Amino acid sequence: MISKSELLLYNPSQFRELKAFYASQDKEILSITKFILNEALIEEVYGFETVIDITSLTNINNQYHSERLINLFDNQFVFIADENYKSFFEEQLRFCFSNFKIFEEYSQQKEELQKTDKKSIGKKHKRIIDLKTDQLESFFYSFNESLYGHDKFKDDFKVQVDNFRVFNKLGEHKILSLFLMGDSGIGKTEVARAIHKALEGQNKMAKINFGNYSSDNSLNSLIGSPRGYIGSEDGEIFIRVEKSDTGVILIDEFEKSNSTLFNYFLDVLENGKLTSSLTHEIDLNGFIIIFTSNISKEDFKKVISPELRSRFDYKCYFSILKNQDKLKYVEFRINSVVKKYNKNVANVLDDDFKLKVFRKINVAKFKNMRDLNKAIKQTFVQKLNERIIKLH
Ligand SMILES: Nc1ncnc2c1ncn2[C@@H]1O[C@H](COP(=O)(O)OP(=O)(O)OP(=O)(O)O)[C@@H](O)[C@H]1O
Ligand SMILES: [Mg+2]
Repeated sequence: MISKSELLLYNPSQFRELKAFYASQDKEILSITKFILNEALIEEVYGFETVIDITSLTNINNQYHSERLINLFDNQFVFIADENYKSFFEEQLRFCFSNFKIFEEYSQQKEELQKTDKKSIGKKHKRIIDLKTDQLESFFYSFNESLYGHDKFKDDFKVQVDNFRVFNKLGEHKILSLFLMGDSGIGKTEVARAIHKALEGQNKMAKINFGNYSSDNSLNSLIGSPRGYIGSEDGEIFIRVEKSDTGVILIDEFEKSNSTLFNYFLDVLENGKLTSSLTHEIDLNGFIIIFTSNISKEDFKKVISPELRSRFDYKCYFSILKNQDKLKYVEFRINSVVKKYNKNVANVLDDDFKLKVFRKINVAKFKNMRDLNKAIKQTFVQKLNERIIKLH
């Protein structure tokens, strides 16, 4: 086993500063949880643009699995963890890391953040109904840039938003709900990410995966259990919405859940608020809720009740991207990866290199953009190695 050099231990109360510190280097922090659930995702990420937070390995508490997982990442990755678990990691991952270092450099970001904090006090969630006309224009510009293809959806979405802003003011339309169906890896979840980004969200978007809520007790874990019961506290959806800073909620794999949850959401869409079993409320007026699902057009009618179906403002079936859109996506990905490589590793990759990678990828072979992403990474690494061999 090749040991990674160090594990950086951060202070969790300063996570925002840490995030800003890495953002200034064009790096994003991702939790290892994402990769525990789907190891193939490791093939899509690059060490020079990603920092891996391994704190959640404390939950699985299995040395063999943890070591194996960490070794699937190449040596370009930076690993971080909550400093409260220092001794845990020193023990469990002593073969993975040669040094466990308390990391403090990011705390200089604090003053900058305090300035922005002051500005955002008062209004917590930035909502589409809060935007002025010129801000709305840049919202759509950013949204349309982030999502490739799906032109009909983009046109429809604009109409939906315009109507929503009018009727919401009149008090007749509290939540804009979109139901997106279609094959895997074509941008359904990306729609929610793009809206969150276009609303300039800095925190994590509120996302709930209904795939995790298929058991009978699911409503309790989602909205909290009644006071007096073990674990009586607010459920996941409250925590997520509280932490987010935009009026967007993503409900992934909606069809995986059961009728209790469907009915709960029927209520949410009707009343425009989240109510927990502790009678704690969050007002969702002006929010956009995006539901995504892999069910086919035919199953949609079987699985989702007519009451609920009629409650969605907009339903759309996403089809596979056209080759021209995939090419644009590939071009964008290569540009962004090369830019980050040049910034974070060595400033050596030029347009000629980009073209070599670009020419090697046959977009027609891919339906799922995740597979396309893997192919981009493989080709990038391969061309990088060829380049190094040529230089020697
Ligand atoms: N139309 C698109 N525009 C921009 N990026 C896209 C698009 N389609 C897919 N991607 C990228 O591909 C990856 C997978 O897309 P996404 O998560 O949106 O898939 P999905 O349709 O939600 O699939 P699933 O049903 O499996 O959840 C993401 O990294 C996303 O950035
Ligand atoms: Mg998805």
